[in-house]
Amino acid sequence: MKTGINKKNIVLGVCGGIAAYKSVELLRLLIKQGANVRVIMTQNAREFVGPLTFEALCGQAVCTSLFEKGADASIKHIEWAEQADAVVIAPATANIIGKLANGLADDALSTFMTVVTRPVVLCPSMNTHMYENKAVQRNIERLKADGYFVLEPESGKLACGITGPGRLPEPMDIMDRLMRCLAPKDLEGKRVLVTAGPTREPIDPVRFISNPSSGKMGYAVARAAEHRGGRVVLITGPTDLPDPNNVTVIGVQTAREMGVKVFEHFDHSDIIIKAAAVSDFRPRDQADQKIKKENDQELLALEKNQDILKELGRRKKDQVLVGFAAETENLEKYAQKKLVEKNLDMIAGNLVGHPSAGFGSDTNEMTLFFKDETKEPLAVMDKEAVAHILLDRILTLMNS
Ligand code: CTP
Repeated sequence: MKTGINKKNIVLGVCGGIAAYKSVELLRLLIKQGANVRVIMTQNAREFVGPLTFEALCGQAVCTSLFEKGADASIKHIEWAEQADAVVIAPATANIIGKLANGLADDALSTFMTVVTRPVVLCPSMNTHMYENKAVQRNIERLKADGYFVLEPESGKLACGITGPGRLPEPMDIMDRLMRCLAPKDLEGKRVLVTAGPTREPIDPVRFISNPSSGKMGYAVARAAEHRGGRVVLITGPTDLPDPNNVTVIGVQTAREMGVKVFEHFDHSDIIIKAAAVSDFRPRDQADQKIKKENDQELLALEKNQDILKELGRRKKDQVLVGFAAETENLEKYAQKKLVEKNLDMIAGNLVGHPSAGFGSDTNEMTLFFKDETKEPLAVMDKEAVAHILLDRILTLMNS
């Protein structure tokens, strides 16, 4: 199962800028997520990328003119606008921004936009001076006030040689903001604390004890909560994942560091989701220098780390506390035990050790266990879908 963008009708507007090539990649990502995407190109956009490229990816004719041949051509802009769940314009040039801010409708894209009633993500991309031009800024402000979501361009070296703001953000980030526009805002005003990833417990300066947690589940929860309007703090062990947009990310290494940060934020959080794979033990001693292989055998003395979640369960007031349980056997028994012992409201359990679930994979096969001893097995689904279901259940718990 896919959520967010799956089966949504998205219209992608492409204007004439160097960054038009990036909208090809954006289209590919949207299609991969299961969206039904229609493309409208301005006349100038065709100078940069051919409509055929977009057509091949989205499997349908690209709209380039108000007056195309064919029976439905003259009403296409009305029909597409009415069927759209959201619109994204990337890149958006100074010209389209000016037209939209003033309600002008003199080509296919601007005319279509006057009919749109759904969320619009506008991605300005142009030369820095052009972007900073007073009239352009005035138009952008006006569009923000009109309810457009304007994704600020990134700074960097632009194709024209200038360095400054004007670069189109990465397609992944544009898609992420589009997903946010489409998500319900049912976590508005809620403070959400999420932990993710493994911890690393140093043995010496070059070695550590850890586990293969990729952090994907916790990051998916953080992103989903942010999409739904939550104010999210993500405390994470080392991962290869990019920081989620609009989330406060705090990086830690050890379980002790994670504990310190979690306790710091706990009192100010309404919802706490502990997806991190915290190391239960740490080496009792940490060598200052690299341990040499002089002996045939070495014994490593370990001492227990604090169970952060258990401590949160003790301190819990009017908060929803959710844990995870990755088990290799007896999932239900162990998950239920952790639910009770750590005073949780819900625990998401899964069996690890097979490819479709757990560490590192993009999908998970989870079972949710609740305080009233009920359980809900979920189908194999991607971690983003699991994250949204977790948040749905949390909201139900909060409102019951
Ligand atoms: N957890 C924690 N602090 C620890 C260990 C675990 O906060 N020192 C949290 C994890 O983030 C997870 C839950 O407790 O949400 C369960 O973690 P898991 O490793 O499955 O279980 P443990 O409680 O460590 O028990 P065991 O290793 O014996 O299965």
